Order: sequence, then C-alpha cells, then structure tokens
Amino acid sequence: MSSVSTTASHDEPGTADAPQIGSFLDPAIQDDPFDTYALMHERCPVHRLPENDLYMVTRYDDAKSVLTDPQTFSNDPTGTARRNSSASRAAAQVFAERGWVRAKTLQRTDPPNHTHYRRLLSRAFTAKRMESLVPRIEQLCHELIDGFADTGACEFVSDFALPLPGIIICEQLGLDASEYPTFKRWADAMLATAQKVLTPAEAVEYTETELEAQHHLAREFAARRAVPADDIISWLVHAHLDDDAASINSTAIDEPLTDEELQDLLHQLVTGGFETTTAALGTGLWLLIRHPDQMAKLRADRSLLNNFIDESLRFDSPVAGLWRTATCPTSVAGSEIPQGAAVMVRYAAANRDAAKFADPDVFDIERPNAKDHIAFGWGNHFCVGAWLARAELRCAFTALLDRLDGIELARPLDDLPHEFSFMLRPLKELPIRFRATGA
Ligand code: HEM
Repeated sequence: MSSVSTTASHDEPGTADAPQIGSFLDPAIQDDPFDTYALMHERCPVHRLPENDLYMVTRYDDAKSVLTDPQTFSNDPTGTARRNSSASRAAAQVFAERGWVRAKTLQRTDPPNHTHYRRLLSRAFTAKRMESLVPRIEQLCHELIDGFADTGACEFVSDFALPLPGIIICEQLGLDASEYPTFKRWADAMLATAQKVLTPAEAVEYTETELEAQHHLAREFAARRAVPADDIISWLVHAHLDDDAASINSTAIDEPLTDEELQDLLHQLVTGGFETTTAALGTGLWLLIRHPDQMAKLRADRSLLNNFIDESLRFDSPVAGLWRTATCPTSVAGSEIPQGAAVMVRYAAANRDAAKFADPDVFDIERPNAKDHIAFGWGNHFCVGAWLARAELRCAFTALLDRLDGIELARPLDDLPHEFSFMLRPLKELPIRFRATGA
C-alpha cells in the first residue's frame, strides 16, 4: 500500500460536490484539455475516467511520486483490467497465429528486468554515437527546407516534421529511409490501441498492419544476423545478455535476444522515435506562430533556443500520458486506487501544474524553470531518445529560423487541429507561408 499525497479532495463521482469533468473521449476536450487539467489540479487531482476505467494523475509532485514507485505502480501491463478487453484479445489471437507475441521488454518491465534491457539499449544510444549524428541531422534539415523554400509555403507536418525524425530513426535502426511513410503507417497501427477505444474488428485491422511490420522486421533481423552492419538492429541482434541476466534468468546468459524480445524493442523504438518528435516539431513552430513576440525574442537571442525547446515541451507535451498498473490497493492525493487499476500519469497536465510552474498557461521562452518539465518522463523509464529528440529540435529550429522569415499560418487550422489521440498530440497539419532568406 502506498500513499503519494493526501492533501486534496477525493474525486467521488456521484457526490453532490464532485466536479463535472468532461470526457477525455470527447474530441474537443482531447484537443484542448488545459481548462480541464486546471479544474482537476484544483478539485480532483486523481480522476477516475469511467469511460475507459483508468485513473488519471495530474499534479506534478504526484506524477513524479508515481513514476518513482515501480513496486506500487508497475510498467508491466499484465494485471491491468483494461488490457483484457475483447479488442485486445482479438488482436492477441492474430499475433499468436500469424506473427510474434511480443515479449515484455524495457518500457513494459520493472527493475531488475528493466535495468537489464535499459543497459543493453543505452549501449546503442551512447553519447558518442548521438553526437556523431548532429551533422547528418543538420544536413537533412537543410535538404528538407531546400525542398520547399522557393515556393514560399509548405505543409510543415508532412514536408518537415514527419520526414525529419522518420528518416533519422530509419537510418539509425538500419531500415530503408526512403520507406519512412510505410514506417509511419506501421507506427500508427502499433499505437492505435493506445490512442482510442477500439472495437475488436478495428483492433484486428490494425493488427494486420502491424503484422506487416513484424514480418518486415523479422527479415531485417535475419539479414543482420547473417551480415552485421553499423546500425542499431545489428547491435541488438548480436547483443548477448550481460551479467545482469544472472539476477533474472540464469539460463539466459550468453543467449541472444529472441525474436519476441527484438519485436518488442523495435516496436518501442519505431513508435517512440517517430511521432513524438513530429508532434514536438509541429507544436513548437505553431507556438512561435501564435506568439510572435516569443518568435521575435528567439530570433534576436538564439541562446534562448534550449529554453524555448523545454518551454514548448512543457507547455504542450507531445506525450500527453502513459500507463502504470497498481500492484496493490493504494491511494494518490487522497483518492483510492484499487489493485489492478490502470493509472495514467498525465505528463501534459503535470507540466501545467501551477504549484510547480508560475502562470502555467503562459508560454514564456524565458521561464526560469522550464527545464523541470517531465515531458520525457521521470525516473527509470526516462526517455531513451531524449538526447536525439533534443538534437533534432535544436537543428530544426536553427535551420528554420536561419532560412525562413515572416513565418505565419497560410490559412486557419481546423477547429480541432490535433488528431484524436489519448496518448500523443499529433497536429493534423500546419500550412505555413514565409519569405526564404537566401541563407
Ligand atoms: C520529443 C520527443 C519525445 C518525447 C516527448 C518522448 C517522451 C517519452 C516519455 C514521456 C517516456 C517515458 C515512458 C514512461 O514513463 O513509461 C519515453 C520513454 C521512451 N522513449 Fe521517448 N520521447 C521522445 C523521443 C524519443 C525518441 C526519438 C526515441 C527513440 C530513438 C524514444 C524512445 C523511447 C523509449 C525506447 C522509451 C522507453 C524507455 C524505458 O522504458 O526505459 N523517444 N519517451
């Protein structure tokens, strides 16, 4: 039993003074949830969403406490009631019959298993390897801008924010970068169950697409086993379990990762490495367009670049929230949480908590504590790709500000500018116009 904090009122649906929290399945609330977050911070910082039976944790301190207590809030989804829906069962059957039932690795594990996979992957994401990527990221940013600079306009999401991280992650993994649109389709299918509530038929349809990805990846594993290359897939297929394995499964030492483990690791890298950074790029530019004073400040003083990146990740976090499972009856902020409950740590809400960030709804690229956001998570599962994502954001905004003046919306956005997603924050589009500087 663990109690994270007990300072707030309970969220008791049905009681006379329970606040009316709108449904997160309502596209309008998903699109602009910030008033709802403010209400939750004040009145019900842990809210049970009846529509999908999960407990959303919204305050900054509570979110950090949950993220650093893996014994009570596990990353292993096995015991979660919501995973046992008819849609999940239908998808699992298709994987069992015609694909790979993914092993639980990294993000779906707790220590000591997590520590083991994390160390393995950290060796593929070394600071040296990441540093060496910067010239390639800069080059790609300029190539993408070359593709539209002369026209004075572009659709920023499809012309820049998707291809930049898509091509970089493909090149790093060792996948054919010219096929990044296919990987995007696969990543969407991989994430579909986490984005919305699916019928069994929809779940099977997405699973069919994911099977395509699994079979393609299995061919890549086989090819790298035969002929290694300088890429992360080669590294993973040739990585053998290290000494940490002794504490997990003594028979596993010296065994290479299984295809089921590799499928799960690649699933996380493809989904983690793609749409998150796409959302961060699109949101960052849209924030500058909506706040011309901040854009002018950044143009005048580029030393604000890192703080601008942190402030935009704080202000509109690309990963809105992720799940844990309560391993025992517990309570957070005075709300009881039953054993087996799905708990969503809502990073996006925590990053707007007034108790941590003064005037949280003001976008201020000079905010002194912007870097305290938890948009990349916190604790053991802190984002493996944070360094890479930051490098992509730094190179992208440097090149965009150097080469494009007068950036503005080319036409108004849709009334609901984001794709519906329970977890991520993808912009549907960002049509812009500008004057090329000739730089
Ligand atoms: C702006 C871009 C990104 C954001 C906002 C982001 C956000 C996050 C967050 C919030 C977590 C924590 C998960 C948890 O608490 O369970 C996470 C973990 C992770 N991220 Fe990212 N991410 C980004 C970019 C990337 C990139 C580029 C990659 C791959 C190269 C990546 C791969 C991963 C992986 C593999 C994990 C799981 C780590 C673990 O469980 O130990 N992410 N990310």
